[in-house]
Amino acid sequence: MKISNSKVLIIGGSSGLGLGIAKECAINEAQVTIASRSKEKLQDSVSEIGYGAECHVVDISSETSIINLFKNVGHIDHLVVTSGFVTGKQFSELSEKDARDDFEINFWGKFNVSKYGVKYLNKGGSIIFISGAFARKPNPNVFMTSVSVAAVEAMAKTLAISLSPIRVNVISPYVIDTSLTGSGQMNEDRKEFLESTAKSLPSKCIGSPKDIGEAAMFLMSNSYVTGSILSIDGGFTVI
Ligand SMILES: NC(=O)c1ccc[n+]([C@@H]2O[C@H](COP(=O)([O-])OP(=O)(O)OC[C@H]3O[C@@H](n4cnc5c(N)ncnc54)[C@H](OP(=O)(O)O)[C@@H]3O)[C@@H](O)[C@H]2O)c1
Repeated sequence: MKISNSKVLIIGGSSGLGLGIAKECAINEAQVTIASRSKEKLQDSVSEIGYGAECHVVDISSETSIINLFKNVGHIDHLVVTSGFVTGKQFSELSEKDARDDFEINFWGKFNVSKYGVKYLNKGGSIIFISGAFARKPNPNVFMTSVSVAAVEAMAKTLAISLSPIRVNVISPYVIDTSLTGSGQMNEDRKEFLESTAKSLPSKCIGSPKDIGEAAMFLMSNSYVTGSILSIDGGFTVI
């Protein structure tokens, strides 16, 4: 991989998909920095990643916190933002506050990280966002998140033009088994859900954080890829 010695900042790197990306970067000899809100989670994850990974606290709902993060981290080659969550409500159940809270992190957090982070990105650098398969195959049970992840994909494609030659890409996952990372949990219900989901997909298996990490490696190292939405979804969006 061409990312050895690159400096990679992963916001959301303390668990789940971000931790999967951080581990893959570290194995491929990048200098890894992870950032999120909880110092405790960050410290545990830095030990898990190894290879001299570093961490900083940030809350992407605060512009000041984002500005301070970049001042502390300095110049980077690749910026990855995985921070986000799912609002599990239908349109009829959503208040305006629910809708705005979803957009606050899932969209505006990524907008502000790009806005304040771009001047710290080195020549040849890239940005990667995580969206979700519901951007292209909307799910009315997670109405607002289907909308916000679609907005992230539209923003990334437009940023690929606005920030050129910085490359901007998106990984769009469906269900990923994060039970072995950070805050992930595996109870009977989750196990059954993962098994039935696997059976329903063309891939006949569920994705792993490593699958997401490998996708991120590809997007960081291939200089001809920008404005792309890379589906890592077991074929969910084609059935
Ligand atoms: N896992 C899946 O199957 C899957 C599938 C499709 C899409 N996605 C999407 O991918 C994203 C990541 O999923 P995940 O499974 O990796 O979730 P996760 O394990 O909950 O990780 C979220 C990360 O973001 C950080 N974070 C949350 N709020 C933040 C904030 N305000 N500022 C800074 N960092 C913040 C968390 O750390 P702190 O708590 O320390 O802040 C954590 O490091 C989510 O948007 C999710 O909807 C996930």
